[in-house]
Amino acid sequence: MTPRRSTLSVPGHVAKMHTKALGSAADIVMLDLEDSVPPDAKEKARRQVVQTLQSAQARSRPLAVRINALDTPYGYRDLLEVAEAAGDRIDTVVVPKVNAAGDIHFVDRLLDGIERHLRQAHTIGIEASIETAEGLNAVRDIAAASPRLRTLVFGIADFTASVGARLVSLSGHGENEEAVYPGHRWHHALSRIVMAAKANDLMAIDAPYGNFKDEAGLERAAAMAGAIGCDGKWAIHPLQIETINKVFTPSAEDIDRARRIIAADDAARSGGRGAVAVDGRMVDQATVRLARRLWAQAGRMGLL
Ligand code: GLV
Ligand code: MG
Repeated sequence: MTPRRSTLSVPGHVAKMHTKALGSAADIVMLDLEDSVPPDAKEKARRQVVQTLQSAQARSRPLAVRINALDTPYGYRDLLEVAEAAGDRIDTVVVPKVNAAGDIHFVDRLLDGIERHLRQAHTIGIEASIETAEGLNAVRDIAAASPRLRTLVFGIADFTASVGARLVSLSGHGENEEAVYPGHRWHHALSRIVMAAKANDLMAIDAPYGNFKDEAGLERAAAMAGAIGCDGKWAIHPLQIETINKVFTPSAEDIDRARRIIAADDAARSGGRGAVAVDGRMVDQATVRLARRLWAQAGRMGLL
């Protein structure tokens, strides 16, 4: 799958932020119609998002569109209007506050109809945002609900609100967590999302980090997400992209270690030996699998 290290989200109604985002190094840009757009700008945002999707500057990069939740008066119209007008330009529709597999079925069927109407060969993907207690409970079914699914993303602020956990920062997006909970406050939720995603060959994406001026905090949060199996992280500001891309890109040292493990395994196989030794230590087949996985990932990122 194409890497999704960084997803840069931009408010749908602010055209100049689109221009900047499109010129950034984010793996994918997400044009938001949901919570970064005030209710009186929803229609304007839809029009602006269509215009941006159709612009020449947008041609060369994958774009996602986050619609409003399906229990609002906006969600279904976002999907209809934006996908009908520019469906061939949408890589992924981000569905917020997914509570059940039925939410994904609804989006999937509507997209079927729109693609047929447009006689469009390109299949629009889906990213499901898990950000409610109900959604986390149903995450196993949600992750298996449609072949359009590419990724699951953790919606940290809404999840905090949904379970009634304490708000400890201005943004509610991962700051000051250590002050109230040593370790990783969202370890359980994020791990369940990772498991459901990986069991269905999807990527797991971590929530954004709220304070774009706190690079060390961002790096720590991204590294923790990567450590438990996330493939990338949302960004709320272009300044966050470099750090996120770095954390989710295998380092030269990682690649070199993988190369040596794979070479030792290949040599053991061709010599008819079962045991693999690297740097004087025995390496088992699980480690070889990890090394091959990292190698494949590095290949997809053009690092080999
Ligand atoms: C994202 O949608 C969040 O709620 O954090
Ligand atoms: Mg949210």
